Amino acid sequence: MKKVVTVIKGDGIGPEIVTETLKVMDVIGVQYGHEFKYQEIAAGGAGIDACGKALPEESMEKCLDCDSVLLGAVGGPKWDQVDPKNRPEAALLGIRSGMGLYANLRPAKLFPQLAEASPLKPSIVAQGIDFLVVRELIGGVYFGNRYTREIGGQLVATDEMTYGELEVERIARVAFDTARKRRSKVTSIDKANVLDSSRLWRKVCERVAKDYPDVEFENMLVDNTAMQIVKCPSQFDVVVTENMFGDILSDEASMITGSIGMIPSSSLGKGTRGMYEPIHGSAPDIAGQNLANPIGTILSGAMMLKYSFDMDEEAAAIEAAVNAVLDDGYRTGDMMSEGMKRVSCSEMGDLIAAKLKKA
Ligand code: IPM
Ligand code: MG
Repeated sequence: MKKVVTVIKGDGIGPEIVTETLKVMDVIGVQYGHEFKYQEIAAGGAGIDACGKALPEESMEKCLDCDSVLLGAVGGPKWDQVDPKNRPEAALLGIRSGMGLYANLRPAKLFPQLAEASPLKPSIVAQGIDFLVVRELIGGVYFGNRYTREIGGQLVATDEMTYGELEVERIARVAFDTARKRRSKVTSIDKANVLDSSRLWRKVCERVAKDYPDVEFENMLVDNTAMQIVKCPSQFDVVVTENMFGDILSDEASMITGSIGMIPSSSLGKGTRGMYEPIHGSAPDIAGQNLANPIGTILSGAMMLKYSFDMDEEAAAIEAAVNAVLDDGYRTGDMMSEGMKRVSCSEMGDLIAAKLKKA
């Protein structure tokens, strides 16, 4: 198969982790006879540096004219002072929304090899951590009106959180359909004891749940969820929630698996074209030092093969190679524990590519 992949290396550690991912994808290409054509575009801080725009028009066009997008990370302190509408993060939101990617899937799965790196007690980890955060990605407070006014001599800032029934319904259906392929349980997260948008969210999810009598369904308040994730993560299968709650909870969920550096994500809308990115950020503190963990991005590449290109076997091969390298005791700094072998970002990429070649 021939696939065109739009590549956004982005900022901070972005270029390093994406380079390792392309290395791995190229091995897959050779082994399975696929041709991956990469079209690299500037976005985020890199876009601002190149032409003054976080999301240049032609970059957006290339995101819409390809088979899928692979993104490293955007943002960093260097661009903190730019106009908020032109921040690197605005590019990310612009791409998500421009491509119509409303469903963001973020797996929180413990690699057994990393059990020791989890900050949770071994007794909790032993119960198993394997759930999926389904985050609504192009609505809610991230995309509502926002403005700052002067009222009575002080500045007052407003961010509106809005959800419509159809927006909630389509993401709820993604959660239920996905749960059917897993352990058939959906937990919908909201703040229905306070927010109107949450009360609507809950109503719609309960309505959709009726279409899936075979899937266990429950509601949970977001504050309680934050607690339950560290107290008893094994209770969760599919967790569906609005944009900002999903942002926050997915960071928490990833950390208990040992390292946020391990977690990939997929963002999909109506068709098969998606965007794939690790859930962590640009980590400016370690950028350019060959220290980053490329696995979250490499596994995002695997998700792209599976969900957008229907290459299940190829995706499984990458996952197996990652597992094998972890089995051999190789770790980047973020997931290092006693007795393991510490490697750099590029060494990790080389090791995974070498495992694939051997397999
Ligand atoms: C994420 C990130 C982004 C988000 C930022 C960089 C805008 O935190 O993908 O989780 O909040 O969605
Ligand atoms: Mg986040």
